[in-house]
Amino acid sequence: MADYPARSKYDDAVAENYATVRFDPKVDLRERKIVRGLANLCEPFTTMLDAPCGTGRMTGEFLDKRITALDVSASMLKHVQSMQGVHSVLQGDIEKLPFPDGTFQLVLSVRFLHHLPDEGTLERCLTELARVSSGHVLVTYFDTFALQNLRRWFKQRRRKRPGHRLSRSWSTFSEIARRAGLEPVKRRCSAPGFSEQWFVLFRKASTGAPKGTA
Ligand SMILES: C[S@@+](CC[C@H](N)C(=O)[O-])C[C@H]1O[C@@H](n2cnc3c(N)ncnc32)[C@H](O)[C@@H]1O
Repeated sequence: MADYPARSKYDDAVAENYATVRFDPKVDLRERKIVRGLANLCEPFTTMLDAPCGTGRMTGEFLDKRITALDVSASMLKHVQSMQGVHSVLQGDIEKLPFPDGTFQLVLSVRFLHHLPDEGTLERCLTELARVSSGHVLVTYFDTFALQNLRRWFKQRRRKRPGHRLSRSWSTFSEIARRAGLEPVKRRCSAPGFSEQWFVLFRKASTGAPKGTA
């Protein structure tokens, strides 16, 4: 399995910060709305996986579903364990998910893929997320062509410290997703050109007709 900072950096202190002050409430709300809007395109569905769930930011948005929450960090999971209405909370690794093929109708993975260090690991993770889905996979990725990304690049250069967050162009990202067996249905960003974070709803290549176009 690949080693990268995000796999081990979420200890108790980082988790507490993530759960309380990490997000501007407006940004958080905007992200939840986008995720909810894309997930609505998959209705009707009842089973869902949120991986990594972190402190349950997105898990909490789907308590009307039979939702399973998974993360590698026990510290992050403590915040989800106290949440009412989550079907199951598990510690595990996205590179090797402890579920049979096609367990969930929707698989969600928010603010994770940009932490992965190389394309091989990205493809392995997407393949694993696709494997446990019977229909759709909703993920985020960081897009190269965004002012936020340029700003981060300049900051890193000035500090002479390489960053751990990797952005990719849509053509590169969608090609890796295609190799993982995923076809895009719809793609959204809260501020295209400025924000580097994009949300993409994929369907498994073998499932029915798309309800939208990317
Ligand atoms: C930025 S947080 C995102 C959490 C949540 N999806 C959200 O949007 O708030 C990244 C999470 O990825 C988890 N993580 C990193 N590598 C992982 C892996 N290989 N398997 C499962 N979780 C992992 C971390 O523990 C952390 O909780």
